Amino acid sequence: MKQQSKQQTIGLGLAGLGTVGSGVVIALERNADLISDRTGGNVRMAVEKVLVRDPAKPRPVTIDAAKLTTDWREVVDDPAVAIVVELIGGTDTAFEIVAAALKAGKPVVTGNKALLAERGVELFALSREHDTPIHFEAAVAGGIPIIKTVQESFVGNRIHSMIGIINGTSNYILERMTEAGLDFAEALREAQELGYAEADPALDVNGWDAAHKAILLASLAYGFAIDPERVHVAGIEQVRPTDIEFATRLGYVVKLLAVVREHPGGEVELRLQPSFIPKSHILASVHGVFNAVAVHGDAAGESLFYGRGAGQDPTASSVVGDLVEAARGLHSEHGHRGFLPYREDGRLMPVEDTSTAYYVRFDVTDRPGVIAQIAQLLADAGIGISGTHSPVDPESPDAEFVDMVFLLHSCPFGQLSRTLEKIEALDCINSAPVVFRIERL
Ligand code: NAP
Ligand code: HSE
Repeated sequence: MKQQSKQQTIGLGLAGLGTVGSGVVIALERNADLISDRTGGNVRMAVEKVLVRDPAKPRPVTIDAAKLTTDWREVVDDPAVAIVVELIGGTDTAFEIVAAALKAGKPVVTGNKALLAERGVELFALSREHDTPIHFEAAVAGGIPIIKTVQESFVGNRIHSMIGIINGTSNYILERMTEAGLDFAEALREAQELGYAEADPALDVNGWDAAHKAILLASLAYGFAIDPERVHVAGIEQVRPTDIEFATRLGYVVKLLAVVREHPGGEVELRLQPSFIPKSHILASVHGVFNAVAVHGDAAGESLFYGRGAGQDPTASSVVGDLVEAARGLHSEHGHRGFLPYREDGRLMPVEDTSTAYYVRFDVTDRPGVIAQIAQLLADAGIGISGTHSPVDPESPDAEFVDMVFLLHSCPFGQLSRTLEKIEALDCINSAPVVFRIERL
């Protein structure tokens, strides 16, 4: 028979009532009974204080006006608040909120990958110092429980690699450009309307949102602090319809790929860039806002984690999961849940040393000998060409300015970059060459 015990209310301080914050309120209401049962029975989560920028803004959820504030201290300091949920984004005010909550011994739940990738080492140290947990499942891959997988389920594995698609907005944009022929700006607008994009969508399209997530995954897997400035990041803003058409013709799809891989000497490769991947590979079937991370552990072998990587409900799912965990742990002695460096010798592999094949697009002034000039510089550098193509516009076959595409054999990125600098200096080259990796997965 079910034990009857006194009802307990756990007060939440919610910083942010945007896409994800509203989703959390909705999910907590919708599944209140379920959450209560799964938190030990008779436990209710009650939103006590909510931080917003504009209290007058219409919202999809109803919150008592007295609970709204524009002063974050009122959220953290409210004695009725036992757990602080940070969902405002950014790295300044968010840092202050999380730091103050940890110092006050209030567990934190956050979905803020930028904050944790940039300042996680400081916050996780505070978390340990104050024996107060910080949960961040929503920070990587939306509704996919990849943080718990790396932190807990795979903790007994040596992780060889984690390769994946971890920005829903970019994947959505690439898909809409490929399938519906939308231009970049239209596709981005749709992603924003659907609640997938960051408040600053530049982070999605310049690759940094995915890079922040990859940094978190790599820190958890390899145990050393990673300086974001040392990570090679390129986003989808440079992808043109011509690249997508070319990839399709060759049997590839263009994806923004995160590659995290440990090399035999212990160096960790970590890079983010648009990549050609074979159409037959499972990651090529990750469509729209979906994300997927292929984790290769020495014991578990290859596992693929797939699901919705952004949006209100999937992200709220991860936040609420963390809230239940935080509520269960309120009286536990083992608070700290984050990442603390444990490896002194951990080091990132310089991106110059990483090798793949490449697709390079040049914007050239078309005249006799252009291909030969480019090919000569590649040959001088010992870089093999596996194909070259210049799409001809049937309307203007004598166009002066054209895109010229080269497919190059595998070589270290540094060797390619040095050669591209020389090619860019040629009179016939009009702008910096665009480089995508061709991944053999
Ligand atoms: P959002 O829709 O822009 O909502 C941000 C909320 O925070 C708004 O309610 C805003 O107030 C409030 N806010 C922002 N800065 C503030 C400040 N300085 N003081 C007071 N209130 C402030 O953002 P979101 O999409 O919900 O994302 C929130 C966090 O979750 C971010 O860290 C994001 O990276 C992360 N995340 C988002 C997704 C997703 O799919 N959207 C997925 C995973 C993780 P007003 O409403 O009054 O403007
Ligand atoms: N803007 C992010 C994305 C939200 O599109 O993946 C999820 O972290």
